[in-house]
Amino acid sequence: MCGIIGFTGSSPAVPILLDGLEHLEYRGYDSAGVAVISPEKGLQIQKRKGRLSALREKLDGLPPLEGTTGVGHTRWATHGEPNDVNSHPHVSQNGRVAIVHNGIIENYAEIKEFLLHRGVRFRSDTDSEVVAQLLDYYFTDGSDPLDAVYRVLEKLEGAYALGILCADRPDMLIAARKDAPLLLGYGQGENFIASDATAIIARTRTVAYMEDGEVAVLTPRGIDVYDEYRRPVEKQRHTIDWDVSAAEKGGYAHFMFKEIMEQPEALRHTVSPRLRDGEVAFDELSLTEEKLRSFRRIFIVACGSSYHVGMLGKYSLERFLRLPVEVCLASEFRYSSPLVDERSLVIVISQSGETLDSMAALREAKALGGYILSIVNVVGSSIARESDDVLYTWAGPEIAVATTKAYSTQLVLLTMFGLWMARALGRAGGPEYAAVTAELGLLPEKLETVLAGTDVYQYLASLYFNRDCVFFIGRNLDYALGLEGSLKLKEISYIHSESYAAGELKHGTISLIEPGTLVVALATYGPLIDKAVSNIVEVKARGAEVVALTTESQRERMEKLADHVMVIPDTHPALQPNLGVVPLQLFAYYIALQRGCDIDKPKNLAKSVTVE
Ligand code: F6R
Repeated sequence: MCGIIGFTGSSPAVPILLDGLEHLEYRGYDSAGVAVISPEKGLQIQKRKGRLSALREKLDGLPPLEGTTGVGHTRWATHGEPNDVNSHPHVSQNGRVAIVHNGIIENYAEIKEFLLHRGVRFRSDTDSEVVAQLLDYYFTDGSDPLDAVYRVLEKLEGAYALGILCADRPDMLIAARKDAPLLLGYGQGENFIASDATAIIARTRTVAYMEDGEVAVLTPRGIDVYDEYRRPVEKQRHTIDWDVSAAEKGGYAHFMFKEIMEQPEALRHTVSPRLRDGEVAFDELSLTEEKLRSFRRIFIVACGSSYHVGMLGKYSLERFLRLPVEVCLASEFRYSSPLVDERSLVIVISQSGETLDSMAALREAKALGGYILSIVNVVGSSIARESDDVLYTWAGPEIAVATTKAYSTQLVLLTMFGLWMARALGRAGGPEYAAVTAELGLLPEKLETVLAGTDVYQYLASLYFNRDCVFFIGRNLDYALGLEGSLKLKEISYIHSESYAAGELKHGTISLIEPGTLVVALATYGPLIDKAVSNIVEVKARGAEVVALTTESQRERMEKLADHVMVIPDTHPALQPNLGVVPLQLFAYYIALQRGCDIDKPKNLAKSVTVE
């Protein structure tokens, strides 16, 4: 989704803004722009449809934009097609104000109507432009710009992170936030705003997260923050402790490949500190045994791949806890009158911690009395801050749009939470608990063996990269894992794929299987291997080509049945998807590579989905 960076200091703003935008590219965008102010030249704006490189090219051909205060933006189009005019920053008719905006102004049509009647002319089709025009409308020369900002914010409905420049204040930048992420960066004689820390980490590691309703006034000398009633707020500062290199490619062709390869290390970070003497220990949780005992039902709420983690988690949690677990798509949850009450544990899973649908679901669940535990990667994100308890995945920054290491760490953490809760409630049987926890510690090494042999996935990709349609089938955990395999493939390679519970095939889908149809058959879940075999035989009988994903112990059997096999080490069945997902990620990656797709930034997708 849209990315914002703002800077005020004593160095030329444009190179800093462009560098920041480059680090926000991963969020997904279709145009980019910058605005700077100088006392002599006032507001200067350049923007362009397409990649940041197109904007750089345009800027290279122009006299340098002067100014040491400015804002930059990458836009992911919602209202109005991606073109130069609809790109941000937007400047007001009288040229007094420029803004960048992330989010959606829901009542923009009403505001536009109001301004049109007063003679304001609009240039773009965006919702965002109304903010610039309304600010200008309320501005009176010489007055405090904050007066106008507060008047405008009062009128806005919807979600926004805003960066605002005023032509007559060349060393000032104003920021405002509601339901869209924005953080403040504190430097030496320079200060920043950004959608996320990756944009500014090269210049400062000291950040504060803006809360809904807050407004910040930044100058090179400092940052003043006010709440929605314009009372001063003392912000808590945090230090970003990960390294810049974690957000760079480090010699890999793609972030996605780097992040796939980082999974063993990411799992070590997630698991090791929480595994002590064969016991799962969550020192960070404040959940008491009494509270745990009060839960009658668990909801898992998330979107996309995080939702797929929830689908897998349901199987493990119900098995360990003997409690009903409902997995809900966050975008559906809030509109479905969910049966959450004080005896509900609501687990929200989100890599970014900023997904608007998940955030809205969290608030709905909280209002209904549910206890919110979130599993989040980005430290200090909105979902983490609004939860009653947080488990951080510690996967490090994930830049590729398609999630890999965040998925893996979410999954292991959810399983560990199930074990921990079952132990606390006295429901975890000794031998099984010991078997799973012993295997937890071995996961990183076993993953390393999967990653050591990528040739097979490259070879399979060379055979199948030009298919139009792929089916993933599996049962139980393999079914839920297939959902992720299918999503990975379609989102980065643009091949249509479907994932089915293998037992459902004969209730309709099998009619689509014909000679040559590619079926990826997941057969890693030990207890149902015989059933998986029957389903492979069924599709083979109709001419399908089968690539089976299976475990070392089933290799021989599968080699006799399938056209090709992808093999992973055996582990406890509850953890098998943690190994199984990696071949599916690599299969998707190499297919997308063969097809020449933009792997890290697939078309139409965004990393952090901050609109509904
Ligand atoms: C797919 C993918 C998305 C995200 C989804 C939720 O590879 O990354 O489906 O899983 O947009 O995002 P988070 O986890 O940030 O809430």
